[in-house]
Amino acid sequence: MDQAVLILIKPDGLKKSLTGNILTRLSETKLEIVAAKMVRVTQNLAEEHYKHLKDKPFFNEIIKYLQGELHDRKKVMALIYWGNEAIKKCRDLAGSTNPEEAESTSIRGSYGRITTSGVYENVVHVSSNDSEAEREIKLWFSPEEIIVDLYATQDIVHKEFKARSWA
Ligand code: TYD
Repeated sequence: MDQAVLILIKPDGLKKSLTGNILTRLSETKLEIVAAKMVRVTQNLAEEHYKHLKDKPFFNEIIKYLQGELHDRKKVMALIYWGNEAIKKCRDLAGSTNPEEAESTSIRGSYGRITTSGVYENVVHVSSNDSEAEREIKLWFSPEEIIVDLYATQDIVHKEFKARSWA
């Protein structure tokens, strides 16, 4: 079954210059990249992304982590991979959430760590299932940033619309 999956290279991955390594590992899946961009993560975006973990004791720390406050890198790289069994393929390559438990050859097993305050710095985010992938992709991307039609869209006419353009 063809699926879309959101991948985030988190601030620790960027700080450790792992972008190339991670993309190389993901290329083993033979999936297609259908969107990619650098994102400055607002508190609102981070909180929406992790809203299912709002009650967890580590919630505040992972919000700071995703925003780059623990790594002096206030950005993440967001990508959408698309193709057969995309979620399973990418999650297998990423490895377990806890980098100490992740298989040593997986991305998280190779590059992740647990901080002294207990946060799992696990380098990448990978959507966990189809409905989470849809929710996350709609949160991180607008339809025109994706080169295929993944989900239904609607046309909206903006009467007054301020946008930045090249000067
Ligand atoms: P979660 O959505 O459960 O895992 P995954 O990212 O594998 O889908 O958790 C979100 C992030 O929260 C996870 O990537 C790392 C962090 N985290 C911790 O720091 N400690 C924990 O005990 C858990 C479960 C997650």
